[in-house]
Amino acid sequence: NRLAAVIPAAGVGSRMQSEVPKQYLRLHNHTILEHSAAALRQFNPSLPLVIALGAEDSYFASTSLAADATVRTVVGGSERADSVLAALEALDPDQFDWVLVHDAARPLLHSADLKRLMDRCQQAGCGGILAAPVRDTMKRGGPHIEQTVDRDRLWHALTPQLFPLLLLKQALCAALADGVAVTDEASAMEWAGQPVLLVEGRSDNIKVTRPEDLALAAFYLETQQ
Ligand code: C5P
Repeated sequence: NRLAAVIPAAGVGSRMQSEVPKQYLRLHNHTILEHSAAALRQFNPSLPLVIALGAEDSYFASTSLAADATVRTVVGGSERADSVLAALEALDPDQFDWVLVHDAARPLLHSADLKRLMDRCQQAGCGGILAAPVRDTMKRGGPHIEQTVDRDRLWHALTPQLFPLLLLKQALCAALADGVAVTDEASAMEWAGQPVLLVEGRSDNIKVTRPEDLALAAFYLETQQ
């Protein structure tokens, strides 16, 4: 198997107002990180995983992933893209062609979405991301509205994001060196002029970011199985 996965989990989660970083908060007896990793491994329980951790991380060691021989960890960086790049460096390009990148804080990925992403990218022969169409009317401005942004063809970028390993590494390195804002892998690939597919995914694949998201994630987890 030439696919590996990377989970950036080095964020401190300052918006969560919690001592414990959000990826280590618990939902139904497992940490959010464990749920996110399990969701990625639905089709291959031994999918090689590289997890980027904060330099001061003191929580990972007590998760079930710590004892898993198919999981490797690296120390992440100050921005998400630095953490992803550190994890990609740990993957041997002679061994892996494609890489899935999935936020540690997205525990609700459905198998049908993951499968659709992989199938569509394989068919198209290029990378792609899960994305959800924007539902609300979008405004630009503050404090006053400057403009209503046409929401037609506007999407929320979700994860996982699936790319050829070498192309993603090159794109991230070049984009970071150029000072481009890289808030997801796709933005680096777009910047490098690479095609990226938008694959529609479920909008309940939320990133647990604010305190109120935890109850919502618990509710989705109870109702989705
Ligand atoms: O902060 P944000 O919600 O965008 O983080 C998305 C994901 O990236 C989280 O899983 C977080 O742990 C990770 N991250 C990281 N390294 C950073 C910042 C965020 O691995 N420096």
